[in-house]
Amino acid sequence: MKRILVTGGDGLLAHALREIAPRDFEMMFLGRAEFDLARPEVMARQLAALRPHLVINTAAYNQVDRCEIERDPSWAVNATGPEALAQLCAARDIRLVHYGTDYVFDGARKTPYSETDPPNPLNHYAAGKLAGERGVLRASPQHLVLRTSWLFGWHPTRTKTFVHTILKTAREGRPLKATTDQASVPTFAPDLAQWTLELIRLGAGGLFHAVNDEGVSRFDWAKIILEEAVQRRLLPAAPPVEPVLSSFFNSAMRRPEYTVLSNRKLSERLGRPAGSWRAGLRKMLARMR
Ligand SMILES: NC(=O)c1ccc[n+]([C@@H]2O[C@H](COP(=O)([O-])OP(=O)(O)OC[C@H]3O[C@@H](n4cnc5c(N)ncnc54)[C@H](OP(=O)(O)O)[C@@H]3O)[C@@H](O)[C@H]2O)c1
Repeated sequence: MKRILVTGGDGLLAHALREIAPRDFEMMFLGRAEFDLARPEVMARQLAALRPHLVINTAAYNQVDRCEIERDPSWAVNATGPEALAQLCAARDIRLVHYGTDYVFDGARKTPYSETDPPNPLNHYAAGKLAGERGVLRASPQHLVLRTSWLFGWHPTRTKTFVHTILKTAREGRPLKATTDQASVPTFAPDLAQWTLELIRLGAGGLFHAVNDEGVSRFDWAKIILEEAVQRRLLPAAPPVEPVLSSFFNSAMRRPEYTVLSNRKLSERLGRPAGSWRAGLRKMLARMR
Protein backbone atom coordinates (compact mmCIF):
# COMPACT_ATOMS: atom_id res chain seq x y z
CA MET A 1 0.00 0.00 0.00
CA LYS A 2 1.30 3.49 -0.90
CA ARG A 3 2.17 5.61 2.15
CA ILE A 4 1.43 9.33 1.80
CA LEU A 5 2.68 11.89 4.29
CA VAL A 6 0.57 15.05 4.46
CA THR A 7 2.21 18.10 6.06
CA GLY A 8 0.28 21.00 7.59
CA GLY A 9 -1.99 18.26 8.94
CA ASP A 10 -4.29 20.61 10.89
CA GLY A 11 -5.04 22.97 8.00
CA LEU A 12 -8.02 23.40 5.69
CA LEU A 13 -6.78 21.44 2.69
CA ALA A 14 -5.30 18.71 4.89
CA HIS A 15 -8.73 18.27 6.46
CA ALA A 16 -10.32 17.89 3.01
CA LEU A 17 -7.69 15.28 2.11
CA ARG A 18 -8.38 13.47 5.38
CA GLU A 19 -12.08 13.28 4.56
CA ILE A 20 -11.52 11.62 1.19
CA ALA A 21 -8.51 9.48 2.09
CA PRO A 22 -8.82 6.43 -0.18
CA ARG A 23 -8.52 2.91 1.25
CA ASP A 24 -5.63 1.94 -1.01
CA PHE A 25 -3.42 4.76 0.35
CA GLU A 26 -2.13 4.91 3.91
CA MET A 27 -2.25 8.62 4.73
CA MET A 28 -0.29 10.11 7.64
CA PHE A 29 -1.12 13.68 8.70
CA LEU A 30 1.59 15.59 10.55
CA GLY A 31 1.18 19.06 12.05
CA ARG A 32 3.83 21.70 12.51
CA ALA A 33 5.10 20.20 15.79
CA GLU A 34 5.96 16.89 14.10
CA PHE A 35 7.00 18.15 10.67
CA ASP A 36 8.27 21.73 10.69
CA LEU A 37 9.00 23.17 7.24
CA ALA A 38 11.41 25.61 8.82
CA ARG A 39 13.54 22.75 10.21
CA PRO A 40 15.11 20.64 7.45
CA GLU A 41 16.82 18.34 9.99
CA VAL A 42 13.40 17.42 11.44
CA MET A 43 12.01 16.80 7.95
CA ALA A 44 14.98 14.58 7.07
CA ARG A 45 14.55 12.56 10.26
CA GLN A 46 10.81 12.08 9.68
CA LEU A 47 11.25 11.03 6.05
CA ALA A 48 13.84 8.46 7.12
CA ALA A 49 11.60 7.14 9.90
CA LEU A 50 8.25 7.13 8.07
CA ARG A 51 9.51 6.21 4.57
CA PRO A 52 6.55 7.63 2.63
CA HIS A 53 6.18 6.97 -1.10
CA LEU A 54 4.78 10.44 -1.59
CA VAL A 55 4.56 13.73 0.33
CA ILE A 56 1.70 16.23 0.00
CA ASN A 57 2.87 19.58 1.38
CA THR A 58 -0.16 21.64 2.42
CA ALA A 59 1.83 23.56 5.06
CA ALA A 60 2.31 27.27 4.39
CA TYR A 61 2.54 30.67 6.03
CA ASN A 62 -0.75 32.01 4.70
CA GLN A 63 -1.29 35.26 6.59
CA VAL A 64 -0.56 37.46 3.63
CA ASP A 65 -0.34 40.77 5.54
CA ARG A 66 1.80 39.34 8.33
CA CYS A 67 4.36 38.07 5.80
CA GLU A 68 5.41 41.71 5.30
CA ILE A 69 6.39 41.92 8.99
CA GLU A 70 7.43 38.32 9.63
CA ARG A 71 9.65 38.35 6.55
CA ASP A 72 12.22 35.73 7.54
CA PRO A 73 9.88 33.27 9.31
CA SER A 74 7.38 33.38 6.43
CA TRP A 75 10.17 32.94 3.85
CA ALA A 76 11.39 29.87 5.76
CA VAL A 77 7.95 28.23 5.47
CA ASN A 78 6.96 29.40 1.99
CA ALA A 79 10.28 29.49 0.11
CA THR A 80 13.33 27.75 1.58
CA GLY A 81 11.33 25.06 3.48
CA PRO A 82 9.55 23.65 0.39
CA GLU A 83 12.79 23.75 -1.59
CA ALA A 84 14.64 21.82 1.14
CA LEU A 85 11.75 19.35 1.37
CA ALA A 86 11.75 18.89 -2.42
CA GLN A 87 15.48 18.14 -2.42
CA LEU A 88 15.15 15.69 0.49
CA CYS A 89 12.29 13.97 -1.35
CA ALA A 90 14.15 13.84 -4.68
CA ALA A 91 17.19 12.27 -2.97
CA ARG A 92 14.93 9.51 -1.62
CA ASP A 93 12.94 9.09 -4.85
CA ILE A 94 9.78 10.39 -3.15
CA ARG A 95 7.35 12.46 -5.24
CA LEU A 96 6.24 15.76 -3.73
CA VAL A 97 2.98 17.59 -4.29
CA HIS A 98 3.14 21.26 -3.36
CA TYR A 99 0.70 24.20 -3.58
CA GLY A 100 1.26 27.66 -5.02
CA THR A 101 -0.87 30.77 -5.23
CA ASP A 102 -2.60 33.00 -7.80
CA TYR A 103 -0.83 35.92 -6.09
CA VAL A 104 2.37 35.18 -8.05
CA PHE A 105 0.80 37.31 -10.81
CA ASP A 106 0.66 41.11 -10.72
CA GLY A 107 -2.98 41.23 -11.80
CA ALA A 108 -2.40 43.74 -14.59
CA ARG A 109 -4.25 41.54 -17.10
CA LYS A 110 -7.96 41.07 -17.48
CA THR A 111 -7.98 37.56 -18.94
CA PRO A 112 -7.26 34.31 -17.09
CA TYR A 113 -3.60 33.46 -16.46
CA SER A 114 -2.19 30.20 -17.77
CA GLU A 115 0.79 28.21 -16.45
CA THR A 116 3.09 29.73 -19.11
CA ASP A 117 2.36 33.37 -18.21
CA PRO A 118 5.28 35.10 -16.45
CA PRO A 119 4.76 35.71 -12.72
CA ASN A 120 5.49 39.09 -11.16
CA PRO A 121 4.80 39.02 -7.40
CA LEU A 122 3.76 42.29 -5.76
CA ASN A 123 4.32 41.38 -2.11
CA HIS A 124 6.52 39.30 0.20
CA TYR A 125 3.99 36.46 0.58
CA ALA A 126 3.76 36.05 -3.20
CA ALA A 127 7.53 36.31 -3.68
CA GLY A 128 8.06 33.61 -1.04
CA LYS A 129 5.45 31.31 -2.56
CA LEU A 130 6.98 31.80 -6.03
CA ALA A 131 10.48 30.99 -4.74
CA GLY A 132 9.00 27.89 -3.06
CA GLU A 133 7.28 26.53 -6.16
CA ARG A 134 10.36 27.20 -8.28
CA GLY A 135 12.56 25.39 -5.75
CA VAL A 136 10.20 22.41 -5.81
CA LEU A 137 10.09 22.22 -9.62
CA ARG A 138 13.88 22.57 -9.85
CA ALA A 139 14.43 19.64 -7.49
CA SER A 140 12.62 17.08 -9.67
CA PRO A 141 10.46 16.97 -12.83
CA GLN A 142 8.30 14.41 -11.01
CA HIS A 143 7.24 16.90 -8.37
CA LEU A 144 3.84 18.48 -8.83
CA VAL A 145 2.90 22.11 -8.06
CA LEU A 146 -0.75 23.11 -7.94
CA ARG A 147 -1.44 26.85 -7.88
CA THR A 148 -4.76 27.60 -6.26
CA SER A 149 -6.79 30.59 -5.04
CA TRP A 150 -9.42 31.72 -2.48
CA LEU A 151 -9.74 28.28 -0.82
CA PHE A 152 -12.91 27.67 1.17
CA GLY A 153 -14.42 24.66 2.82
CA TRP A 154 -15.58 23.02 5.97
CA HIS A 155 -13.22 22.38 8.91
CA PRO A 156 -14.13 21.10 12.39
CA THR A 157 -12.30 23.86 14.28
CA ARG A 158 -11.05 26.49 11.82
CA THR A 159 -13.63 28.95 10.65
CA LYS A 160 -11.53 31.58 8.95
CA THR A 161 -12.35 31.26 5.26
CA PHE A 162 -14.08 34.14 3.48
CA VAL A 163 -17.38 32.19 3.56
CA HIS A 164 -17.18 31.88 7.36
CA THR A 165 -16.27 35.55 7.77
CA ILE A 166 -19.13 36.80 5.61
CA LEU A 167 -21.70 34.63 7.40
CA LYS A 168 -20.42 35.57 10.86
CA THR A 169 -20.39 39.28 10.06
CA ALA A 170 -23.93 39.07 8.65
CA ARG A 171 -25.22 37.14 11.68
CA GLU A 172 -23.71 39.69 14.06
CA GLY A 173 -25.41 42.48 12.13
CA ARG A 174 -22.13 44.25 11.43
CA PRO A 175 -21.65 46.22 8.19
CA LEU A 176 -20.33 44.26 5.23
CA LYS A 177 -17.85 45.72 2.76
CA ALA A 178 -16.20 43.91 -0.13
CA THR A 179 -13.87 44.98 -2.91
CA THR A 180 -14.99 45.35 -6.50
CA ASP A 181 -11.44 45.66 -7.85
CA GLN A 182 -10.12 42.26 -6.73
CA ALA A 183 -11.07 39.18 -8.71
CA SER A 184 -10.00 35.56 -8.49
CA VAL A 185 -11.50 32.06 -8.47
CA PRO A 186 -12.98 30.70 -5.22
CA THR A 187 -11.88 27.08 -4.94
CA PHE A 188 -13.59 24.40 -2.87
CA ALA A 189 -10.96 22.62 -0.76
CA PRO A 190 -12.56 19.15 -1.23
CA ASP A 191 -12.37 19.63 -5.03
CA LEU A 192 -8.68 20.53 -4.76
CA ALA A 193 -8.13 17.47 -2.55
CA GLN A 194 -9.88 15.29 -5.15
CA TRP A 195 -7.84 16.71 -8.08
CA THR A 196 -4.67 16.15 -6.06
CA LEU A 197 -5.39 12.44 -5.64
CA GLU A 198 -6.45 12.07 -9.28
CA LEU A 199 -3.28 13.77 -10.54
CA ILE A 200 -1.18 11.53 -8.28
CA ARG A 201 -2.86 8.45 -9.78
CA LEU A 202 -2.26 9.87 -13.28
CA GLY A 203 1.44 10.32 -12.48
CA ALA A 204 1.28 14.04 -13.35
CA GLY A 205 4.29 16.26 -12.69
CA GLY A 206 5.07 19.94 -13.25
CA LEU A 207 2.90 23.02 -12.80
CA PHE A 208 -0.91 23.14 -12.93
CA HIS A 209 -3.44 25.83 -12.12
CA ALA A 210 -5.87 24.03 -9.82
CA VAL A 211 -8.96 26.19 -9.35
CA ASN A 212 -12.70 25.82 -9.93
CA ASP A 213 -14.38 27.39 -12.96
CA GLU A 214 -15.29 31.11 -13.18
CA GLY A 215 -13.58 34.19 -11.83
CA VAL A 216 -15.53 36.57 -9.59
CA SER A 217 -14.91 39.80 -7.68
CA ARG A 218 -14.79 39.76 -3.88
CA PHE A 219 -17.95 41.87 -3.91
CA ASP A 220 -19.91 39.42 -6.08
CA TRP A 221 -18.50 36.44 -4.17
CA ALA A 222 -19.77 37.98 -0.90
CA LYS A 223 -23.23 38.63 -2.38
CA ILE A 224 -23.52 35.08 -3.74
CA ILE A 225 -22.52 33.59 -0.36
CA LEU A 226 -25.28 35.63 1.32
CA GLU A 227 -27.91 34.72 -1.31
CA GLU A 228 -27.12 31.01 -1.07
CA ALA A 229 -27.15 31.19 2.75
CA VAL A 230 -30.60 32.80 2.70
CA GLN A 231 -31.89 30.07 0.36
CA ARG A 232 -30.64 27.45 2.83
CA ARG A 233 -32.16 29.36 5.75
CA LEU A 234 -28.79 29.97 7.37
CA LEU A 235 -29.71 33.67 7.37
CA PRO A 236 -33.19 35.25 7.51
CA ALA A 237 -32.34 37.82 4.80
CA ALA A 238 -29.30 38.99 2.87
CA PRO A 239 -27.88 42.20 4.39
CA PRO A 240 -26.50 44.84 1.99
CA VAL A 241 -22.84 44.65 1.00
CA GLU A 242 -21.12 47.96 0.43
CA PRO A 243 -18.89 47.92 -2.66
CA VAL A 244 -15.45 49.41 -1.92
CA LEU A 245 -12.07 49.65 -3.64
CA SER A 246 -8.95 47.97 -2.21
CA SER A 247 -7.59 51.42 -1.31
CA PHE A 248 -10.42 51.72 1.24
CA PHE A 249 -8.61 49.25 3.54
CA ASN A 250 -5.51 51.47 3.56
CA SER A 251 -3.05 48.59 3.51
CA ALA A 252 0.61 49.37 2.87
CA MET A 253 0.89 46.01 1.13
CA ARG A 254 0.12 45.73 -2.58
CA ARG A 255 -2.39 43.10 -3.65
CA PRO A 256 -2.92 42.14 -7.28
CA GLU A 257 -6.29 43.13 -8.73
CA TYR A 258 -7.07 40.33 -11.16
CA THR A 259 -5.62 36.87 -10.53
CA VAL A 260 -8.14 34.60 -12.23
CA LEU A 261 -6.32 31.39 -13.19
CA SER A 262 -7.26 29.30 -16.21
CA ASN A 263 -7.87 25.66 -15.25
CA ARG A 264 -7.77 24.41 -18.85
CA LYS A 265 -4.58 22.33 -18.41
CA LEU A 266 -6.02 20.75 -15.25
CA SER A 267 -9.34 19.78 -16.83
CA GLU A 268 -7.60 18.42 -19.93
CA ARG A 269 -5.41 16.23 -17.73
CA LEU A 270 -8.36 15.10 -15.59
CA GLY A 271 -10.44 14.48 -18.72
CA ARG A 272 -13.40 16.39 -17.26
CA PRO A 273 -14.31 19.94 -16.22
CA ALA A 274 -12.90 21.01 -12.86
CA GLY A 275 -16.42 22.07 -11.85
CA SER A 276 -18.02 25.10 -10.34
CA TRP A 277 -17.29 26.66 -6.94
CA ARG A 278 -21.05 27.29 -6.73
CA ALA A 279 -21.64 23.55 -6.27
CA GLY A 280 -18.93 23.51 -3.58
CA LEU A 281 -20.50 26.49 -1.81
CA ARG A 282 -23.89 24.73 -1.73
CA LYS A 283 -22.32 21.57 -0.29
CA MET A 284 -20.52 23.57 2.37
CA LEU A 285 -23.63 25.54 3.38
CA ALA A 286 -25.75 22.36 3.48
CA ARG A 287 -23.23 20.94 5.92
CA MET A 288 -23.25 24.08 8.04
CA ARG A 289 -27.00 23.88 8.60
N1 LIG B 1 -6.25 29.46 1.71
C1 LIG B 1 -6.17 30.06 0.53
O1 LIG B 1 -7.04 30.87 0.17
C2 LIG B 1 -5.01 29.77 -0.40
C3 LIG B 1 -4.87 30.54 -1.57
C4 LIG B 1 -3.82 30.26 -2.43
C5 LIG B 1 -2.93 29.24 -2.12
N2 LIG B 1 -3.10 28.51 -0.99
C6 LIG B 1 -2.13 27.45 -0.68
O2 LIG B 1 -2.82 26.21 -0.52
C7 LIG B 1 -2.12 25.40 0.43
C8 LIG B 1 -3.09 24.91 1.50
O3 LIG B 1 -3.64 26.04 2.16
P1 LIG B 1 -4.64 25.92 3.41
O4 LIG B 1 -5.67 26.97 3.23
O5 LIG B 1 -5.03 24.52 3.65
O6 LIG B 1 -3.68 26.40 4.58
P2 LIG B 1 -3.96 26.46 6.14
O7 LIG B 1 -5.34 26.06 6.48
O8 LIG B 1 -3.45 27.78 6.62
O9 LIG B 1 -3.00 25.32 6.66
C9 LIG B 1 -1.62 25.47 6.57
C10 LIG B 1 -0.99 24.71 7.73
O10 LIG B 1 0.41 24.90 7.69
C11 LIG B 1 0.86 24.92 9.02
N3 LIG B 1 2.17 25.53 9.18
C12 LIG B 1 2.49 26.83 9.35
N4 LIG B 1 3.82 26.95 9.53
C13 LIG B 1 4.34 25.70 9.45
C14 LIG B 1 5.65 25.17 9.56
N5 LIG B 1 6.71 25.95 9.82
N6 LIG B 1 5.82 23.85 9.41
C15 LIG B 1 4.76 23.03 9.19
N7 LIG B 1 3.50 23.46 9.13
C16 LIG B 1 3.30 24.79 9.25
C17 LIG B 1 -0.21 25.68 9.76
O11 LIG B 1 -0.13 25.31 11.11
P3 LIG B 1 -0.49 26.37 12.26
O12 LIG B 1 -1.96 26.43 12.28
O13 LIG B 1 0.10 25.73 13.46
O14 LIG B 1 0.11 27.67 11.89
C18 LIG B 1 -1.49 25.18 9.09
O15 LIG B 1 -2.05 24.09 9.79
C19 LIG B 1 -0.98 26.26 0.95
O16 LIG B 1 0.20 26.02 0.24
C20 LIG B 1 -1.43 27.68 0.63
O17 LIG B 1 -0.36 28.61 0.51
C21 LIG B 1 -4.12 28.74 -0.12
